[in-house]
Amino acid sequence: MSRTIAILTGGGDCPGLNAVIRGVVRSAVLQRGWRVIGIEDGFDGLLGEPRWRELTLDAVRGILPRGGTILGTSNRGNPLAYPVETNNGIELVDVSDQVVANVRELGVDALIAVGGDGTLKIARALQEKGLPMVGVPKTIDNDLRGTDVTFGYNTAVGIVTEALDRLHSTAESHHRVMVVEVMGRDAGWIALESGIAGSADIILVPEIPFKFDAVCEAIRQRRARGSRFSIVVAAEGAFPFDGQKSVKVASDKNLGVERLGGIGAFVANEISQHMGIETRVVVLGHVQRGGTPSPFDRILGSRFGVRAVELIEEGNYGRMVSLRGRSVCDVDIVDAVDSLNRVDPDGNLIKAAEALGIMVGR
Ligand code: F6P
Repeated sequence: MSRTIAILTGGGDCPGLNAVIRGVVRSAVLQRGWRVIGIEDGFDGLLGEPRWRELTLDAVRGILPRGGTILGTSNRGNPLAYPVETNNGIELVDVSDQVVANVRELGVDALIAVGGDGTLKIARALQEKGLPMVGVPKTIDNDLRGTDVTFGYNTAVGIVTEALDRLHSTAESHHRVMVVEVMGRDAGWIALESGIAGSADIILVPEIPFKFDAVCEAIRQRRARGSRFSIVVAAEGAFPFDGQKSVKVASDKNLGVERLGGIGAFVANEISQHMGIETRVVVLGHVQRGGTPSPFDRILGSRFGVRAVELIEEGNYGRMVSLRGRSVCDVDIVDAVDSLNRVDPDGNLIKAAEALGIMVGR
């Protein structure tokens, strides 16, 4: 049976999105002879006049190694709470009926939404409104439940690890403390795994509010052992025991999305003031989301795309593809968005880090 399916990428971009798009198109077209269309800029492309394009085999040729998403994305404009200018200022309005109407108008049999927590929550709501939806989990933060890992995370860990390797030599030459701020607003996976891989001395994650005295003590002990430099990795969502997360732009000034940033500068400043050690801060920022995906993420993204098409063929809607162990399977989208996948402060990985002599803020 011939079908038309649609795919969109929502939320922040991430390496591997194009692998998913290509996986969907190749398996839908080559194996099934279906038609695939791509919605532009996430759910934004389904508001007002729909913005979409045909995704033929030609359209996805050569995109596997490319970062970002050929369809564009947006982490603003949630159709469930869309900012609309009214007499009382900006109000958040549910415009999801427009999305449903547009999808039906386009003659789409099923919609694949590739994204993180926010995108998948919208997908769940649309499924409840009767649209046949399939979710694909994406985020460099790896904070989604329902899957062992999201694509994009492995690439980000690789980028941060390489940065830490490079920062070691300059930190050591100047006998400095180098504080590296990495992404991870609610979960410290990037900081923790790249910190272990990149031989950091101190790792600060949102799940363990850090004690500043303990951070200074760890640096002191290293100096006493003859290491005059230290590398600190701080997730953007890390915060001191007696303090708050560092917010750069408050949510009411940014369409409901809080922008974090500044914990690296805060920690660096405290260390130099309290210890008199020369300190520098490096904020890796969006470098972690850019560029070519790692082989792992290319493979995972491709497998997720293939499985998403299988789910549509099986009529299995309201599901999210997932990696469990080495197998790609699927879970209810609801299970993925109920809560976040966060680092367990008493888990195996944190214990391994501590056993290696890495200080985790406590
Ligand atoms: O969700 C992934 C993430 O990288 C977060 O760690 C970070 O806070 C956020 O995206 C930044 O998004 P943007 O600057 O694109 O709005």
